[in-house]
Amino acid sequence: MRIGILTSGGDCPGLNAVIRGAVLKGVQINGQEFVGFRDGWRGVVENDVVPLGRKDIQGISKQGGTILGTSRTNPFEGNGGVERITENLKRRGIDAMIAIGGEGTLAAAKRLTDAGLKIVGVPKTVDNDLGATDYTFGFDTAVQIAVDAMDRLRTTGESHSRCMVAEVMGRHVGWIALHSGMAAGAHAILIPEQKTSVEQLAEWVRSAYDRGRAPLVVVAEGFVPDEEDDAHSERGLDAFGRPRLGGIGERLAPLIEELTGIETRATTLGHIQRGGTPSAYDRVLATRLGMAASDSVLEGLWGRMVALRGTDIVHVSFEEALGTLKVVPQNRYDEAAILFG
Ligand code: F6P
Repeated sequence: MRIGILTSGGDCPGLNAVIRGAVLKGVQINGQEFVGFRDGWRGVVENDVVPLGRKDIQGISKQGGTILGTSRTNPFEGNGGVERITENLKRRGIDAMIAIGGEGTLAAAKRLTDAGLKIVGVPKTVDNDLGATDYTFGFDTAVQIAVDAMDRLRTTGESHSRCMVAEVMGRHVGWIALHSGMAAGAHAILIPEQKTSVEQLAEWVRSAYDRGRAPLVVVAEGFVPDEEDDAHSERGLDAFGRPRLGGIGERLAPLIEELTGIETRATTLGHIQRGGTPSAYDRVLATRLGMAASDSVLEGLWGRMVALRGTDIVHVSFEEALGTLKVVPQNRYDEAAILFG
């Protein structure tokens, strides 16, 4: 069987380890052949294909990014959809696809599978917000990068007796903020799931400062302060009715200064969290998911995604995979909050 692999959506450390795992298991054990689509669905709709043999995947599990490239191309938005893809696969002699991606990728894969194409999915998101899998590869690496950065922010913060604000990724959920904040010993963690007022934040900062600490605040990029109601947001105004400029970390720093009188600096970690070499944990998880995806193709498990449950690799339907966003539960936040202030 000839299989096309694609990586789609935002990149994530561990993508290459998935590709290597699938190709090694597929070529050595399952009697499969592979090609790679360049830049996610773009390569599928534009028939942009590269060879993917044993030689092409040598030593790549420790490399960040994806050797296939990625994009946010949606195959259904003016890109020909099912007919064009079916025609391209036929022309290339490709029987099945392994789609590695997050919600958008899996939603497109589901529509294509419903139309009769043979696709299995591999979950990918640095944010760790897919409900059907316990962990996604890339998350552990992102957390470690964020913790390293926070350890550095703390020494400069302590030297100047400043409050340091670290903004981490997490558009809809606060997993990276929660884990990195707990590991770095943050005095406050702010996440999209949890309404928190700037007043409360100022209290935590003040209390840490009064104990002689340089306060460290970790904020997920999708956090909205309690005071910043919908009316403010719609008009592009912050909690204090001023024009909203920059990310949430940059916006919180002057508010903290104003309320506490403590000099405050903000750092946005941004895409550094998605770059570079994956952690050992992510390499192992990604390799196992890649191998399981090759097995799923062998077994004809179309419309299913490989996933981690406990320490086992299982499969779930695309419907289940797309069902729920995995938010930080209240008890996990409350547990972390014991350490604030
Ligand atoms: O979904 C993963 C993620 O890293 C988010 O945390 C972040 O908001 C977004 O992707 C950034 O996307 P882009 O790379 O397109 O700027």
